[in-house]
Amino acid sequence: MRVFVTGATGFVGSAVVQELIQAGHQVLGLSRSDAGAQALTAAGAQVHRGDLEDLDSLRSGAAQADGVIHCAFNHDFSNFVAICETDRRAIEALGSALTGSNHPLVITSGTGMGNTVPGQPASEDNFNPNHPNPRKASELAGVAVAERGGNVSVVRLPQVHDPAKQGLITYAIAIAREKGVSAYVGDGLNRFPAVHRLAAASVYRLALEKAAPGARYHAVAEEGVSVKEIAEAIGSGLKMPVVSISPEEANAHFGWLGMFMGYDMPASSALTQQRLGWRPSGPLLLADLDDHFKA
Ligand SMILES: NC(=O)c1ccc[n+]([C@@H]2O[C@H](COP(=O)([O-])OP(=O)(O)OC[C@H]3O[C@@H](n4cnc5c(N)ncnc54)[C@H](OP(=O)(O)O)[C@@H]3O)[C@@H](O)[C@H]2O)c1
Repeated sequence: MRVFVTGATGFVGSAVVQELIQAGHQVLGLSRSDAGAQALTAAGAQVHRGDLEDLDSLRSGAAQADGVIHCAFNHDFSNFVAICETDRRAIEALGSALTGSNHPLVITSGTGMGNTVPGQPASEDNFNPNHPNPRKASELAGVAVAERGGNVSVVRLPQVHDPAKQGLITYAIAIAREKGVSAYVGDGLNRFPAVHRLAAASVYRLALEKAAPGARYHAVAEEGVSVKEIAEAIGSGLKMPVVSISPEEANAHFGWLGMFMGYDMPASSALTQQRLGWRPSGPLLLADLDDHFKA
């Protein structure tokens, strides 16, 4: 297939590009910069210049492809509601270019969207349209495209890691460096699910190839690593004290990250493994964190 990949220069999207090319697909990757265009060419992809805010550029990229994988996202978390709305508009624009063709559109969400029962792992088949996290806008946009006849599936990600980056934990490391302590909230037994970056990329490829309308997949290798263990790994890596802070202190300590650090968000990939034949692989989160601090 010829696949239009947005976010093709990003942490997850660049692994998706590699995975697609290795599997024999052609990639048309979105880039908003010369540096990104050069990286895509070096990776063996063709380049489509554009921007998430330029909806015509998204529509024209999608119209040139047999399928789309949407990984772009502007991670300005200080403006989270607005950037989630940007994602909604981007998904609707990509979908509008594909409607009527049955070409698959694979969009990105977070596993937290499937946490509908407190304490229970998120399941692929659960989605709370009234979720307090504004990122629900991405999945709601997917639903809107599907209602207009688009073939949309969703890949939900947990903390995606390699030795360089580990999702929200990368921001927690920066805050620990700034504050001189590695903190967790309360007893720290709340859990973050995780997956290695390359394993996540294979879920996107399989989802694209399966092209099952309305499917939701979880690229999850580890159902839940406690935030206390994560904070301890950061404390050990940075050689600094590990402390518990109260939920009331979380926003002052972590800033925008405070809304995530106390969440218990375990997630299952049982249905994904069954439906895609995917098996998690690669190093575990704490091993990659260990390697991060050794580097
Ligand atoms: N990484 C994780 O642990 C994790 C966890 C849950 C969900 N997710 C989701 O997974 C997706 C991929 O995340 P990631 O970690 O790969 O993010 P990332 O490394 O920050 O990459 C973001 C990508 O989006 C592109 N982008 C940002 N703003 C853009 C704009 N205005 N126009 C065009 N392109 C733009 C970036 O292009 P440039 O190269 O030009 O900056 C880059 O290719 C996102 O939806 C993210 O929210 C990630």
